[in-house]
Amino acid sequence: MGGGKIIGMVMFVAVVVSAAAGYGDNQQLQQQQKWWKWMSTGSAASSSVVKPVVSSSIVLPLYGNVYPIGYYYVQLNIGQPSKPYFLDPDTGSDLTWLQCDAPCVRCTRAPHPFYKPNNDLVPCKDPLCASLHHVDYKCESPEQCDYQVDYADGGSSLGVLLNDVFHFNGTSDARIIPRLALGCGYDQLPGQSHHPLDGVLGLGKGKASIVSQLHSKGLVRNVVGHCLSGRGGGFLFFGDEVYDSSRIVWTPMVHDRMKHYSAGSGELIFGGKATGFKNLFVVFDSGSSFSYLNSQTYQGFISLLKKELNGKPLKEANDDYTLPLCWKGRRPFKTINDVKKYFKNFALSFPHGWKSKAHFEIPPESYLIISSKGSVCLGVLNGTEAGLQNVNLIGDISMQDKMVIYDNEKQAIGWSPANCDRPPKSNNMIM
Ligand SMILES: *[C@@H]1O[C@H](CO)[C@@H](O)[C@H](O)[C@H]1NC(C)=O
Ligand SMILES: *[C@@H]1O[C@H](CO)[C@@H](O)[C@H](O)[C@H]1NC(C)=O
Repeated sequence: MGGGKIIGMVMFVAVVVSAAAGYGDNQQLQQQQKWWKWMSTGSAASSSVVKPVVSSSIVLPLYGNVYPIGYYYVQLNIGQPSKPYFLDPDTGSDLTWLQCDAPCVRCTRAPHPFYKPNNDLVPCKDPLCASLHHVDYKCESPEQCDYQVDYADGGSSLGVLLNDVFHFNGTSDARIIPRLALGCGYDQLPGQSHHPLDGVLGLGKGKASIVSQLHSKGLVRNVVGHCLSGRGGGFLFFGDEVYDSSRIVWTPMVHDRMKHYSAGSGELIFGGKATGFKNLFVVFDSGSSFSYLNSQTYQGFISLLKKELNGKPLKEANDDYTLPLCWKGRRPFKTINDVKKYFKNFALSFPHGWKSKAHFEIPPESYLIISSKGSVCLGVLNGTEAGLQNVNLIGDISMQDKMVIYDNEKQAIGWSPANCDRPPKSNNMIM
């Protein structure tokens, strides 16, 4: 440690990203100019030897739930000596960042003390830095990489990239302690769906994402997946060792400008029947708690639900504001089991599945919640209203009790029903 070195930083920052998105207005290049003196308090710690562990996977337990907490999170141990941080796993964005005592200009409340940065800055010409900026981006100060991420809910983080040590446990009882790039975020604005955490774990397909970085160091295959339990918790994994690929339904990844994990053009199936809502651009986004359909499809979906509820003992609960649409029964509901029988499954069906059609089945417990007032509320929301334009999002609620896998090498997204309650032990597959 020792006397902090003062680095003058030019904040000429461009672009980026999305948690639940960056669809629409946020897509434009955003530029911001600002001066800030960044006091670094760490020393360039001696780098730990990265020991490549061939064919290992990394499994991390998840905490949280869709309701009432509203998000899942993972604990990562970062730094030397390592300190714990709670991060929001986000397949909708690339950059991992921590609220950072650089010092912090604007930080939000966090469960742990803010991260203390070291001096191991990622230089501006590093390809990782370039991947976070527009192609036209010019380095104002070559020795550092400034970043800004803007999320679809209006939240943002601004900071500088540096390298630090991440401490993981591999599935084959090996410890994996790579030096990876992360953002020291010293200026955060909370968005509408703000989660009071220490930072974000970027799991997207870009070079800066944790899974791409682990892969480029030869530590795991470029595969990330999660298993969110409907009873809360679950696990997140990097690498392909925790599942049996032959038991997964795979569909090719489709590419869009924002580089989201998309299975492309889906069709809405309701109660096993086609609805006529087709060509839906569908994105899988673990950074979003709820699911979203574009306005027209949302309207159609609600009509189908309401038609189905005709004659059933459920009435719209206009006094429950938990979510836009809730229903109550004669008595308050305790669990989803009390209401399941009144609702049908729906599904998104993707025509390009490698074996016939790939159905992503969504049972009532994966699109409804029971509110604290005992009504049942719809966890599928109007995406147009949320600023997602035509994008349809499969959020955490609809990915519960499934293993969802993003294979960036095979360029495929896969899923399978799974018991997500316990992380697999060394070399144990789960299904
Ligand atoms: C890794 O394993 C060790 C020993 O089993 C445990 O104490 C530690 O908490 C684990 N670390 C993480 C990040 O899970
Ligand atoms: C969805 O949101 C859009 C934009 O706010 C609105 O025009 C539309 O009426 C909404 N659709 C439904 C079914 O509520």
